Amino acid sequence: MVIAIDGPAASGKGTLAKRLAEHYRLPHLDTGLLYRAVALTLLDADRDLADADAAAAAARGLDAAFLSDPRLRGSAMGEAASIVSAQGAVRAALLDWQRRFAGAAEGAVLDGRDIGTVVCPDAAVKLFVTASAEERARRRHRELDGRGEAVAYEAVLSDILRRDARDADRAAAPLRVAEDAVVIDTTALDADAAFRAATGVVDGRDRA
Ligand code: DC
Repeated sequence: MVIAIDGPAASGKGTLAKRLAEHYRLPHLDTGLLYRAVALTLLDADRDLADADAAAAAARGLDAAFLSDPRLRGSAMGEAASIVSAQGAVRAALLDWQRRFAGAAEGAVLDGRDIGTVVCPDAAVKLFVTASAEERARRRHRELDGRGEAVAYEAVLSDILRRDARDADRAAAPLRVAEDAVVIDTTALDADAAFRAATGVVDGRDRA
């Protein structure tokens, strides 16, 4: 059973994907890490994020061992990933990688922006996890605050809106709700409630 989870930045999809993977004992791939790793490879090599040839080469040569690099996690790398992810050649190079992961075991949970629409269009379950931009900014702001990073809420909100626009407006595999996806709006849900909603969808499908 492949579970495809898509949604905008800071929607809670990563937390949800991890919990679903543990619950159903499936391997999990956070596909945002792949784009972050491509961005970091370029930055490490002093290349421009808009350098299409270097980005495509980095995507083709991606090393899985690199995905646990803690430098991938920050919001600066998320922004850089969003820039390289708009390039069609980068997406094409990472597509096989993601499909191999999805097909390698009895099932898998993948989360990203285009899993239900492009990477795994035949996924058994497709969830689109979202929340209002203001709520996502509040969560991200709280998280940064907890890490001792003093950033104004307004700055976090404008980063989120800019990233939403870039991810949704690009020509290559833009962020879209798949026709057969179930939307989970977490604006008024905590992580437990979102998890219950998601398992309700997965288990309900088994009974259908
Ligand atoms: O989910 P994330 O914040 O780690 O993703 C970082 C960027 O990578 C995101 O802004 C857009 C891009 N991305 C993508 O284009 N497709 C995916 N499946 C996952 C991420």
